[in-house]
Amino acid sequence: MKKTIFFLGVCMLGACSADMDKKIDELIAQMTLEEKVGMLHGQTMFTSGGVERLGIAPVKYADGPFGIREELEPHSWTPLRLDTDSATFFPTGSALAATWSEEMAWLYGKGMAEEARTRGKDMILGPAINIQRIPTGGRTYEYFSEDPLLSARLAVGYVRGVQDNGAAACIKHYALNNQENNRGMVDVIVSDRAMREIYLPPFRAAVEEAGVLGVMAAYNKVAGSWCAENEVLLNKILRDEWGFRGMVISDWGGTHSTVKSALAGLDVEMPGGRFFGEALLDSVRSGAVPEEVIDQKVANILRVRLAIDPVEETSHINPVSTPEHGQMVYEIASKSIVLLKNEGGLLPLDLDKNKKIAVIGDNAVQKNATGGIGAGVKARYEITPLEALKQKTGDRATIIYARGYQGFSRQDRERGGILGGVMLTGTGGMISGSPAVGAQLDQELLAEALRAASDADLVLFFAGNNREVETEGADRVNIILPSMQDELIREIARVNPNIVTVVVTGAPVDLSGVDHCSQAMLVSWFNGSEGGNALADVLLGTVVPSGKLPFTFPVRLEDSPAYALQTYPNFDKAPYAEDIYVGYRWFDTQKIEPLYPFGHGLSYTSFSYSSAGTAKDTYGPSDVITVSFTLENTGPYTAEEVVQLYVHRPASKVEFPEKELKAFQRVKLDPGRSAKVTLKVPVSSLRYWNETAGGWALDPGETALWIGTSSRDIKLRKSVKILP
Ligand code: BGC
Repeated sequence: MKKTIFFLGVCMLGACSADMDKKIDELIAQMTLEEKVGMLHGQTMFTSGGVERLGIAPVKYADGPFGIREELEPHSWTPLRLDTDSATFFPTGSALAATWSEEMAWLYGKGMAEEARTRGKDMILGPAINIQRIPTGGRTYEYFSEDPLLSARLAVGYVRGVQDNGAAACIKHYALNNQENNRGMVDVIVSDRAMREIYLPPFRAAVEEAGVLGVMAAYNKVAGSWCAENEVLLNKILRDEWGFRGMVISDWGGTHSTVKSALAGLDVEMPGGRFFGEALLDSVRSGAVPEEVIDQKVANILRVRLAIDPVEETSHINPVSTPEHGQMVYEIASKSIVLLKNEGGLLPLDLDKNKKIAVIGDNAVQKNATGGIGAGVKARYEITPLEALKQKTGDRATIIYARGYQGFSRQDRERGGILGGVMLTGTGGMISGSPAVGAQLDQELLAEALRAASDADLVLFFAGNNREVETEGADRVNIILPSMQDELIREIARVNPNIVTVVVTGAPVDLSGVDHCSQAMLVSWFNGSEGGNALADVLLGTVVPSGKLPFTFPVRLEDSPAYALQTYPNFDKAPYAEDIYVGYRWFDTQKIEPLYPFGHGLSYTSFSYSSAGTAKDTYGPSDVITVSFTLENTGPYTAEEVVQLYVHRPASKVEFPEKELKAFQRVKLDPGRSAKVTLKVPVSSLRYWNETAGGWALDPGETALWIGTSSRDIKLRKSVKILP
């Protein structure tokens, strides 16, 4: 489907665009006002109108972002319960981000597009690319990273993957939807600099580089205006500055006005037509909204509609999850698993020494395709860690399973329950917490776990969250591990200290408790249909871990910026007082030790870094800095390393974070082999947003390029001079 990109990107001003524009003008000229307005709102929960008389098909949306959602009744959230609408469960956002691979993001988008097309959908509601501002954010698992560059590269990969394969992508949620609590009302107060440097880059890259066809306006307000009627975000930045030519849709129920939204740049209200149905017709008739504005909206939709062929009615509902897609999600999952620590080289597991393995924890058997509020996937299948471990160890080891703790359930969430020893009350965006009185472990489950552990050579402890703990519509009260997992692992460690902990999570959790008790630890995410297989292969050494953390694991929640500055929790206003110091930018600048830093991830092999050099010593504003160095695999396994380049400004006149990620690359090397790695940093990417001038500006002078294996493990340093 190259034509989409071609049309919106390269050819926009050329002949093919002129043809397309002509066709669009002709179509609009034949439409009645009612037909035009009929295209500007939802007809069902997941379609917006077409004009049958003119052969314009409705736009069919596939809820994402990590799998094609099941079919729902036309006007409610109730599933149709078909047996033909299951799909592949793709690793969720933070898992994909842990691959640090644009190529994997492309593959992901390709798989999503193929499944969307088979199910008759035009536009995928994904990727979800908001910055992970707070560790407790309910949708952290859907989003990519706390870093704008990493998020931007993955957004570009995902969108291209989707649009190169025949579907439209819709990036969401534009913009600054960084918390779930009170998301429909909260007013984000952010500096232009933080907005431009931290929060907008993924959206901008998806528009400018990937030619994304859809943008979903977020629920929240920014600077006093809801995103679906925000003149600055929509008309000024998205359209005038970035040149966006596709369609803007509201988040579901996120439209609040007719005239204001229509004039600010919203094209489609979803779902239903409370504001963009009759009310919009009336506003045009009364002259409050000029008909040219309506024509412009119809043109925006038609540009998408003409780029994406409607799928034949007959093939609308088909089983979509294929073995090839299983292979795809396996590949992504296997590159996403992060080895946090590996004391004494306990991993990969030696099954000659560890004949009897106790697998403990509800998360070893949890499925994570659905749960909580919001989009999930009716997965055709999902391999759990326990299933995969049993299957892959076969008769080489005995696996004894004990649940250990009761996983947080839907009822717990709905009724309120115990989350990490804290009482949880209420949902729907208003969680409040108070210490639970007398909370204790389930004694039967504890006894069973201790029996299994004392009898085994090794314990695989499954900690972390599940999809009821991390949910759309509500942030977590804290980051303490739920279900009293800290208490449980302490008890287990007393009877068997040989513990490997697998953390199943989509967001940062407080690992300090389990860290003390574990010799090795991995993060295995909400990792899709093949998550269990990928994890088992990493544990057994068939796959060498290569994932890197896309966010910081703090020692304490209070160390993280919004909590340290007490700007979160909040209700009506969210002042982003930490400004540009989000994630590691805060920890590094404030010199606060994280438990595990951004970019961290070990391997079973070792790498050495040497001989850093740049092509030149001085660079002008429009140059690209080329940094090269030698990477050698000095260990026993063929493996992949994600090399990272951070920029530090030793003598800047402007305030900058201690370091900022400016380039990264995945490199594969056989044992004993080395490669020359070259990273490119455009000088323009070093610019900052100058608040006074209202534009990008360069701070010339000495600039240090730090190359490392994580944000806190810098291996090489090289300085260049940036000329004004
Ligand atoms: C979510 C969107 C989602 C939409 C449709 C909203 O509540 O914020 O991400 O695509 O619902 O399910």
